[in-house]
Amino acid sequence: MDTQIAGGCDGRYEGPELPLFLYGTAWKEERTRAATLQALAVGFRGIDTANQRRHYHEAEVGAAIGEAIQAGRLRRSDLFLQTKFTFRAGQDHRLPYDPAVPIADQVRQSFGSSLQHLGVTTLDSYVLHGPSQRFGLGASDWEAWHAMERLHGEGRVGQLGVSNVTFDQLRQLSTSAKIQPRFVQNRCFAVQRWDADVRRLCKERGIIYQGFSLLTANQEYLSSAPIASLASKYQRTPAQIFFRFALDAGIWPLTGSTSREHLREDLSIADFRLSESEFELVERIAV
Ligand SMILES: NC(=O)c1ccc[n+]([C@@H]2O[C@H](COP(=O)([O-])OP(=O)(O)OC[C@H]3O[C@@H](n4cnc5c(N)ncnc54)[C@H](OP(=O)(O)O)[C@@H]3O)[C@@H](O)[C@H]2O)c1
Repeated sequence: MDTQIAGGCDGRYEGPELPLFLYGTAWKEERTRAATLQALAVGFRGIDTANQRRHYHEAEVGAAIGEAIQAGRLRRSDLFLQTKFTFRAGQDHRLPYDPAVPIADQVRQSFGSSLQHLGVTTLDSYVLHGPSQRFGLGASDWEAWHAMERLHGEGRVGQLGVSNVTFDQLRQLSTSAKIQPRFVQNRCFAVQRWDADVRRLCKERGIIYQGFSLLTANQEYLSSAPIASLASKYQRTPAQIFFRFALDAGIWPLTGSTSREHLREDLSIADFRLSESEFELVERIAV
């Protein structure tokens, strides 16, 4: 992969190199293809999507990837490609599986449909979009996870992940799963010290934490005086300060920006560092 930092966030990532950022493809509807092409053109090589038509247009993500590959601008192996299985409750009527079949078959059908949408034969990461219940893990969650483990065992997906999880759910999953989750993808609130408990568990168990809504869930702090002051010191935008903090905290950030300028800015955070006290200031900005 070209546009990536070796070792990811300060060497906290293990295994193969990962791109600096994940490009998120949610909520773009008919602009999905153009937005994804733009992100690829700017240099994003990590793509996050979901087979959940309600919020994502996975087939259009695939169209963009196919176009870029066909044009010779990148190879499949340059990309980190991640998509998700979403339970019925998180879907609208445009289902990628037959809701009447067992969950394990729904996972298989959704996965097959994702490969078709994306025009690929394997995925780098397959994520359970969220447990079926608010607290703990139920039979459906385990059935889905075991089906995902089988896909992993067949070599069709490199790593497994889970999204929208609580500390207890993650502990339960990572304690009992045969194939460990390699990724967690959670909304990251500054008021929860950027999901500190889940991040700590991730660190303990060698799980890479992917953070979304770093900007949108934390607008109040993004526009606060201490962040403005850091932005001024480093001649960066407040968003770049948050993303730099994220990398230093071992958070693999997502952005779904549709602005070329913002995308460029987002990728331009590798060449400055926050001091330890500045890192702590951002970490505790809301607590
Ligand atoms: N697992 C889940 O349940 C879940 C849930 C939500 C999201 N996600 C994933 O995470 C991705 C990102 O979602 P998100 O919630 O973080 O929000 P987002 O879609 O990335 O929205 C970010 C907002 O911040 C703005 N922005 C981005 N970069 C900026 C910059 N450098 N400076 C100033 N403004 C900037 C964007 O505006 P511009 O377009 O004008 O830049 C946009 O309004 C999604 O596409 C999806 O892949 C996953």
